[in-house]
Amino acid sequence: MLHSISHKVAQFTESVIREMTRQALLHNAVNLSQGFPDFPAPAEIKQAACDAINADINQYAVTWGAKRFRDAIAAKTKWHLGFDVDPDREVVVTCGSTEAMIATMLALVNPGEEVIVFEPYYENYGPDAILTEATIRYVSLLAEGHAEDGNGNFWTFDPDELRAAFNDKTRAIILTNPHNPTGKVFTRAELQLIADLCIEFDVLAFTDEIYEHIWYPDTARDVRHISLATLDGMRERTVSINSLSKTYSVTGWRVGYAIAPPVLTDAIRKVHDFLTVGAAAPLQDAGAFALSLPQSYYDSLQQTYLKKRDFLLGVLNEAGFKCYKPDGAYYIMTDISGFGFADDVAFTKHLISEVGVAVVPGSSFYRQSDGGKQQVRFTYCKRAETLQAAAEKLQKLK
Ligand SMILES: Cc1ncc(COP(=O)(O)O)c(C=O)c1O
Repeated sequence: MLHSISHKVAQFTESVIREMTRQALLHNAVNLSQGFPDFPAPAEIKQAACDAINADINQYAVTWGAKRFRDAIAAKTKWHLGFDVDPDREVVVTCGSTEAMIATMLALVNPGEEVIVFEPYYENYGPDAILTEATIRYVSLLAEGHAEDGNGNFWTFDPDELRAAFNDKTRAIILTNPHNPTGKVFTRAELQLIADLCIEFDVLAFTDEIYEHIWYPDTARDVRHISLATLDGMRERTVSINSLSKTYSVTGWRVGYAIAPPVLTDAIRKVHDFLTVGAAAPLQDAGAFALSLPQSYYDSLQQTYLKKRDFLLGVLNEAGFKCYKPDGAYYIMTDISGFGFADDVAFTKHLISEVGVAVVPGSSFYRQSDGGKQQVRFTYCKRAETLQAAAEKLQKLK
């Protein structure tokens, strides 16, 4: 008994993604597994953090977020996502979007209720559901029209399968948009379908929009990020989750936020207060500065990642991977069946120890199906030199 652990915790393992970073360090491999930039955060944002510390913003902020930061969140959400937010009643500042999601789940979902998640999915939602004692209903994302040259394919889902996932136990749908790991950016028609079902079944939506600025215009298709909360009837039933991590390349700052109607926000604030008390006060102050950056900052972020995406796609295609070209976020899901390995874990081990490149095995993004058994995920949020080093090592696969 002394060393027994809780039933809930016994149901999940440590993060596979973060374990891959440890393996990369162990084998001195180029780390294209975990999604954190290996280049510096923007100088002016770092300066704002130093200024905040020097100005003695070093004590607890208001538990649900410093006023200046909440005001900046409301202003940016208005101009960028296109809806009004009351900074005093509708915002909770959290320790990353990670805390925003678990606090939201604990605050709004009862044990035994169901939450819909598109699979493959970002692995945190699994433990989030276990800790909440909720059941996940998975809806498959399928790589349709997967072109061998890595061009022009995109992930879709079956509307009937989505409808079948909704029932009277459904409390919420989690929507990651742009999506990790597939890079899918949901179209307006798909979002409308999701919205219609949420309204019909009186279900909440928890949107993870941390890649809101990282998507790639396409000449053949209308790719753009649309926030689910902006669709008719959705604002009052959506918790929009976001973070500084990816947009400002500060994943280690652990500053995120949730935006929701006042009644939902009150509940999330309570959980947040007792989970963490609050996010780092000086970094919230720097966050207010970051959120005030002009459109040109986001344009240049998009251009930077577009170049990195196209570079890595070229490298991977040449090395023999079939690539699912991403429309957004900064990952490439690949099909490894051409290499003849038993599964994604065996391939990943080989790639880390023999080739010297760390990736994430596809199966860590799947629970319901074994769709990930011949897939691995690469990230390209890395310096050009890092991607070049990976390219050289991947030659060994040929
Ligand atoms: C979809 C998704 N949500 C959340 C996170 C974690 O974000 P944060 O640093 O804001 O906790 C990640 C990180 O990779 C992610 O890909």
